[in-house]
Formats: sequence, C-alpha cells, structure tokens
Amino acid sequence: MKKFAVLMLIMFTAVLAACSASDTVEEVTAVSENLPVAESAVTAVPRRGMGMGNGMGPGSGMMARHMATVPAEYAGLTNPIPADEESLARGAETYANLCATCHGDGGMGDGPAGASLDPAPAPIAHTSQMLGDDYLFWRISEGGAMEPFNSAMIAWKGSLDEEARWDVINYVRALGSGQVTPGQRMGGAMFDPAAEAEKQAEMLAAAVDRGVITQAEADVFTAVHTELDAVMAGQRGQMRGGMADMQAEMLAELVADGRITQAQADQFNDIHDRLLEAGLMQ
Ligand code: HEC
Repeated sequence: MKKFAVLMLIMFTAVLAACSASDTVEEVTAVSENLPVAESAVTAVPRRGMGMGNGMGPGSGMMARHMATVPAEYAGLTNPIPADEESLARGAETYANLCATCHGDGGMGDGPAGASLDPAPAPIAHTSQMLGDDYLFWRISEGGAMEPFNSAMIAWKGSLDEEARWDVINYVRALGSGQVTPGQRMGGAMFDPAAEAEKQAEMLAAAVDRGVITQAEADVFTAVHTELDAVMAGQRGQMRGGMADMQAEMLAELVADGRITQAQADQFNDIHDRLLEAGLMQ
C-alpha cells in the first residue's frame, strides 16, 4: 500500500509539473517510464479531461478543478457500499430530489437550476467514470465553496449521511455507464459514449484543419484513446485518487500488453500536449 501511495505521489507531482510548464514534459515522461509498472498497484485514474460536453470545454476550468488534491481526511477512501439494486434505488431517490435540478436527469450538468451557474454543474455521469471514490465523496461532502472550486456545488455532509453519499455515487456512476435509465423530472441529456466519440472526432478534425496535428496523428490519437477507454472500463470501481493522472501508467500497461507500441504511446502524449496547448482540449 505504501508503495502505491508513493507511486501516486510521484505521478501526481509529474502531472502537475507537466501542466505548469510544457518544456518539462519530456523530463516528466522519462521519469514516468522508469516507474515500476503494474505490480498490484496499477489503478485506473482519470485521463486529463478529454470529453467536451457541457461544462467540460476549453475555459470551463474543469481541468484545474480535477487537479485539486484530495484532503488527507478523504484521501484513499473507497466506497464500502456495493452498487446493488437497493443502493442504486436509494441513490436514485437522493439524486432526483437533490441533484438533478442542477446536474440534470442524465447527470450531464444540464439541469434547469444549473443553467446560469458559473462554473456550470459538472457532467458527473461522465466525470465520475474517471474520478476516484475519494475525490467524489470529498466533493459531495464539502461542496464547492472553497479554492479552487468557488462554485455553487452544495456541501451535503450536513444533510446526507455517509451511506447516502456513497449510494448517490453508485447511482451517478451507473447513470454514466448506462446501467440505469435516467429519471424524467428535470430534463437534460444522457451520457452517450457515441456522442462523446463524435465530439472527439470533431475536435480532432478542427485540430487537423488548424494545422495543430496531422491526419495521421489524429488516427493514432483515436486508436490509443480507444485502448485507454477499454483499460479504464475494466478497472472501474477500483479507482482511487483525485486527478492524480495515471495516464502514463495506463499507457505503459498497454505497451507491456502489446496493445500499442512505445512509439504510439510517446506520440499520443505529444499529440495530447499539443491539443491542450492549442486550447482544443482540456
Ligand atoms: C445548486 C446546484 C447544484 C446542486 C443542487 C448539486 N450540485 Fe454538484 N456541482 C454543482 C456545480 C456548479 C459543480 C461544478 C463545480 C465544482 O466542481 O464545484 C458541481 C460539481 C459536482 C461534483 C464534482 C464533479 C467533478 O467532475 O469534479 C460532484 C461529484 C457533484 N457535483 C455531485 C453532486 C451530487 C451527488 C448532488 C446531489 C446530492 C449535487 N452535486 C447537487 C452544482 C450543484
């Protein structure tokens, strides 16, 4: 466990460095490559937000929010409540009563009370697929009235007991994975992986148009991204950490498994950074 904590720390530091100064990226990649891969510690952690749904686009500040460090009080917590039918039913009720008004029935951040909020409600059906239990539990408990969030997200720890908070996390994740059908009270879109893929394709086309990347690079990006999604889907539910970005770790795993080459992983990182720099992706 200790080893895992150290690994997370290294990854997190590496990612922070990568985000604050692009000229250190190569150095950071080198560090990541030397990390011991796999062991039992490989865990899926969020990619740097690649979706571009509501509240996720350039300028939304979503990336900065996801980089926030989970406070010690919450760090490492995992959901003790199995996502069984009872838990999902309890979560659905809480969600419909307290969350859908801002986050929308489908959890895509488009509820009626959220329309005028800045920052906008997060598309939690989507982001919860990529964020750790501890991050989600922290955010639902403490809300957004603090740095770096400064948002209207409500602190629920006074009104929802711990079980209720875990139930709603189970429900929101189930919304995003299509395991449950959204309610019909507030309106709003459903998380739709096909629509997300289409948005990504549009973003890449724009990047090619603007000369940020070549068509061949767009193809590599899509191929590697598909593999990353598969890894994440397989590890859902074992995620820990806020936005300690283990993208490098997952890429290393894919290389080790022979699903992509090291060259493709390097290229993916390079393309990813250029898309970020060009403001095409957060
Ligand atoms: C008054 C509107 C409002 C209500 C009601 C609300 N939220 Fe939020 N929520 C927000 C806003 C705005 C954000 C985005 C800014 C932020 O991260 O603080 C957010 C962010 C979040 C996040 C962080 C997601 C991420 O991607 O970082 C989670 C988790 C969350 N809300 C869960 C809930 C749950 C569960 C409920 C119901 C128990 C709920 N919210 C009710 C406005 C609301």
